[in-house]
Amino acid sequence: MRHQTVWILDFGSQYTQLIARRIRELDVYCEIRPCTDSAPESFPDELVGVILSGGPASVLGEDAPAFDAGWLESGRPLLGICYGMQLLTHLGGGTVGRGTSREYGPADVELCDNAGPLFADFDPAGGNPVWMSHGDHVDHPPEGFRVTARSRGIVAGIASEDDRVFGLQFHPEVVHSKNGAALIRRFVVDVCGATGDWTPGLFIEEQVERIREQVGDKNVICGLSGGVDSSVVAALLHEAIGDQLYCIFVDNGLCREGETESIREEFKEYNLTIVDAQDRFLDRLAGVTDPETKRKIIGEVFIRVFEDEANRIENAPFLAQGTLYPDVIESVSVRGPSATIKSHHNVGGLPEDMKFELVEPLRELFKDEVRAVGEALGLSEGRVWRQPFPGPGLAVRCLGEVTRERLATLSRADAIVREEIDKAGLTRAIWQSFAVLLPVRSVGVMGDERTYEEAAVVRAVHSSDGMTADVVHLPYELLGKMSSRIINEVKGINRVAYDISSKPPGTIEWE
Ligand code: XMP
Repeated sequence: MRHQTVWILDFGSQYTQLIARRIRELDVYCEIRPCTDSAPESFPDELVGVILSGGPASVLGEDAPAFDAGWLESGRPLLGICYGMQLLTHLGGGTVGRGTSREYGPADVELCDNAGPLFADFDPAGGNPVWMSHGDHVDHPPEGFRVTARSRGIVAGIASEDDRVFGLQFHPEVVHSKNGAALIRRFVVDVCGATGDWTPGLFIEEQVERIREQVGDKNVICGLSGGVDSSVVAALLHEAIGDQLYCIFVDNGLCREGETESIREEFKEYNLTIVDAQDRFLDRLAGVTDPETKRKIIGEVFIRVFEDEANRIENAPFLAQGTLYPDVIESVSVRGPSATIKSHHNVGGLPEDMKFELVEPLRELFKDEVRAVGEALGLSEGRVWRQPFPGPGLAVRCLGEVTRERLATLSRADAIVREEIDKAGLTRAIWQSFAVLLPVRSVGVMGDERTYEEAAVVRAVHSSDGMTADVVHLPYELLGKMSSRIINEVKGINRVAYDISSKPPGTIEWE
């Protein structure tokens, strides 16, 4: 079955993925495509609308990205946002005025007479807060277009006479635009006629069929880490091919407390091998304190162990991976700096030259959609809503040498942090919360005795993608409870501190 589809041409705006998210929230499938792609010779039947995103360039400048005007010939409704509106204006024979500086921030939109279908949820009396970001502006819309809205005298919206082509100077996809999501709904549902045929249940049905087709009677290997992505991949493949799926969980000794048991329990119906490789990892880590060396060792040993195990499985040319949509979008905005920052994060991954054909059933999904699919597949709430956990595990939170004893101390302290965050109902609201163990000893007193033990740090951050992060303002009572529980219950720690650094300049993990 083919889903109705909206294409979003990406001109490099930092908000392009947000447009896609807003559309997917309407159960409508959409794809982000680079603005520099050539337009197709014929447009697919399932295409219901096209959106041109914002972007940092000026349509009048030399840095304007190359654009194939064939994209405007689909005959489907079109919406240009910010740069997209200026491009529609420029190519349509209207005039765009060059701004002297870029203006970001909140603004109010006033509707003109006949504001058209997109503004149906806006207040005609004014007071419509939106998020504005503009350098250039539209002076005169193209022939056949009217101005539908203004903000501080500047054209904020245009529409064609037949209400099929629209432009907006502001960003409806950003939450600060009060009725922005409603405006996008008006475009996607009312104008494009999308019915909302992209639901987790249908996605699963479709993927099950696709996986069966791709795999045939061969076997598939899946590296199960216990994280959301690999768990959902495994559940989806299990649904599709049952015992042709071979899951491998490498217990590297660096997992959180209870993790191995919880995986054994949750995936007990699966063909699952739990490899006890604790000694292989921990022996190689003995005496190592340099963060990069630790990461390298863990990455190397993982590949060895995984290969050894995978080689035992016969008739298995396929490897399942939890690649998500943000990893595959070839857009102007998501390549670039983010790609480099992430490169040191692929510890726990497999080399590209492993001779497997990939099965990547989550390639079209955003993280929140992966969770919805996981829920629909019956994975536990704790599994589906868990916080991200780094490939090198507790090693990057155990500063100094990673010994069995220090790992036991850290994992107990970390379990207490998780328990308290859970009890406070904060697990879902927080990107990551955990404990770090420092190789620093300080003096304390317990009962009548003087202690001289290591210090733990509690870290809790809000983030939407791990690239930047803000410290969570945890209540003092909660921090106090964690601190007294850790000091009382965990041998080896006599002091607890809270990390109040944001990212940047701090990173989320300590190593
Ligand atoms: P930092 O510490 O650089 O981390 O602020 C950003 C996000 O990435 C996670 N992280 C990793 N994830 N393998 C992973 O799969 C890794 O080697 C790795 N290192 C960091 C980190 O937990 C945070 O969410």
